[in-house]
Formats: sequence, C-alpha cells, structure tokens
Amino acid sequence: MANRFAIAPLTTDASNEDGTAADDELEFVRRRAASGFGAVISSATYVEQDGRSWQGIGATHDGHLSSLQRLAEAMRAAGGLAILQIYDGGRIAKPELIGGKPLRAPSAVASLRPGAKTPREMTSDEVENLIACFREAASLARKAGFDGVEIHGANHYAVHQFFSPRANQRSDKWGGTLSRRMHFPLAVAQAVRDALGPKLIAGFRVTPFEAEHDGYTLADSKLLCGELARLNLDYISVSLDDYRKSRPTGETRVYNGPVAEIDTPAESPITEFARVIAGHCAVMASGGIRTCLDAEGAIKLGADLVAVGRAVVVDPEWLSKVRSKSEASILAGLPKDEREIAEALSIPPRMVEYLLSRPGWIPRL
Ligand SMILES: Cc1cc2nc3c(=O)[nH]c(=O)nc-3n(C[C@H](O)[C@H](O)[C@H](O)COP(=O)(O)O)c2cc1C
Repeated sequence: MANRFAIAPLTTDASNEDGTAADDELEFVRRRAASGFGAVISSATYVEQDGRSWQGIGATHDGHLSSLQRLAEAMRAAGGLAILQIYDGGRIAKPELIGGKPLRAPSAVASLRPGAKTPREMTSDEVENLIACFREAASLARKAGFDGVEIHGANHYAVHQFFSPRANQRSDKWGGTLSRRMHFPLAVAQAVRDALGPKLIAGFRVTPFEAEHDGYTLADSKLLCGELARLNLDYISVSLDDYRKSRPTGETRVYNGPVAEIDTPAESPITEFARVIAGHCAVMASGGIRTCLDAEGAIKLGADLVAVGRAVVVDPEWLSKVRSKSEASILAGLPKDEREIAEALSIPPRMVEYLLSRPGWIPRL
C-alpha cells in the first residue's frame, strides 16, 4: 500500500435491482478514491440472493462481472488497492429484497433489531452452499481484477451470527462450543483463500466482542483471529463505532437513543489483536477517525492500517486535506439541503435517504 489509509466499506443502498453498480454509485467511490487512499474497500457485496440486507451490489454470477470490473476501476482512481467486501445478511436480510421468503439463519432466533422477524434454521446443505457462494464471490472478484477480498465477519451479519452464541444455537458441527462456532467463519476464510490463490489479499472484518448480553467475548474473538492468521489471511479489520471507546456496533442500531452501558475491556481490542497476530497479518482499525491525530492514535494502539468511513462520506476530499495539512477546511457534517448533499458531495440520492434514515448516524451542519 502506498500509505496506511483505507476507505472503510460504505454501503450506498443505491445499486441497481439486479445487483449491478449504478453510475452515481461508481462516481461516489471514484471521487473519494481519487484523493489517494492506499486501499479502497467496497461496500458489502451479497454472495447469495436470499441474504441481501440492502439494495447493494452482488457477486453471485458471471452477469455481475462487468459491474465488478467497473467498480474495481473506480476504486483504483488514484492507484490504491481495490478490495471487495463480501457478506451475507442471514437473519438481518431484508424480506422485501428476497421476495418475501422467510429469512434463513444459523438458528431460528430473531435479531434484537426492532420489528425483526424470526428466521428459520438453515439445513446443513444450505450452510455448505453458503460457503460455496462466498468462494464463488471471491472467484468473481479475482476475475474482475480486484486486488483482494474482505470477508464481512462483523456487525451482526451471517458470518458474525455463526460465531455468536446468541444467534447460533445449533447442535450440529456448526454450533454449540466455541470451536464449533468458529467453524463457519474459518470455512469461509479457507474457501476465500482457495479461490484467491496465495497472492491476492484476503482480509476479515470482525466485531471484537458483542455488547449484548451473553454474546461472545474479546477472548473468543482473539482465538478466532489467531486461527484466521494461520489460514494465511493478510489482515484483520477491527470494526468499532469509536475506536477510542472500544465501542462495537450494537445489534439494534439505534444511534440517537441512550447509549447502552457495556463492559469495555481494560485494553483496546486493537492492541489485543495486534499481540495475537503480530508478524502474521496486519491490523486495520476503524471507528471515529476524523483527523490525522485520530489515525496516529489508532496506530499507537497497535494498528498497521486505518479505515475511514463517515469522515469520507461527509468530505470526499478528506484525505487530500489531511495530507496537505489543511484539516481546518475538512467538512464536519452533511449540509442541511438534501439536494446539495447529493450534488455537491457526489452521493447517490438513494444513499442520501439511507444516511438520513438513522438520526444521529451521520453529523449534519
Ligand atoms: C453509510 C455507511 C455504510 C456502511 N456500510 C458498511 C458496509 O457495507 N460494510 C461494513 O463492514 N461496514 C459498513 N459501515 C461501517 C463503516 O465501515 C465504519 O466501520 C463505521 O462507520 C465506523 O467508522 P467511521 O466512524 O469512520 O464511520 C458503513 C457505515 C456507513 C456510515
């Protein structure tokens, strides 16, 4: 990488219905990549039609190849590495996007999100099939010319669900003890590594511990990361809402309500992961990075790389301003006028709606 900065994965919710990237979505990425990020990670890309959580891009068949090629090209606007993030929604897929079919998930346990429907438990054939879908998506990424793939193992999507004792209450080889709950994330990682070959980049995004009652712990995810490192992954991306507070994304996603009092570990998960995987794979930090000092703070904790999300949504030229030491001119929030958000900041109109649908998520001027 030319530098340690990456654009964090940012779903636009504005792709075409068939999972191809829309032109304004490509422009959103191109403009932000052009400021010189060492790597650009794509929005989460679905690997199976029945696991779509938003109207995002897909990597399920050859029909998606030219869309993926165009995306990789946009991401390389300034020569940074193009990484495709791949996911499955499991119990938090969106019923409207999967033709109203029942949701499928590791177990028949509803998510804590308000209004969540109870999914049905996947059969073991379906579990194997989903792993094959991750493999196929990684293979399409390779054919489309991406430099690598990031498995979305964080933020309560299917890979996270298989690792979570709250969501995964299976009694077969995919659930139960900690080592059985690791089975699915590790099988996906192996499948992705096999599809990419040894040279392309394979990363894994993890929620370091669950803020919810009876969730997995930091000790559990450290064991998982150690195993992922043994499978020759290149980086672990630690997903936090704010890296300084070691606060993971909660499953309910309420951004303007009271903040749940959660036990945070004494030491930063970034430091803890760095210790476990040092010398094997890199640690990428994210959450609340808005200035160069924030990035340096994450690096001091043990991160090798930093991923920047909301700051880049709000200011497409964020990195140029950081690099030219003109941080005072960084835009601090989205403008009041919605049309101005779309036009001045190259944000697809449907993404603007998505951003504004969760009050408190993205700062406003
Ligand atoms: C609009 C938006 C879309 C996001 N989409 C994804 C995604 O597709 N995959 C993912 O892992 N995280 C996603 N995230 C989370 C970000 O990658 C990042 O981890 C989070 O916003 C915290 O970092 P930040 O404070 O720099 O924004 C999204 C965040 C935002 C604001």
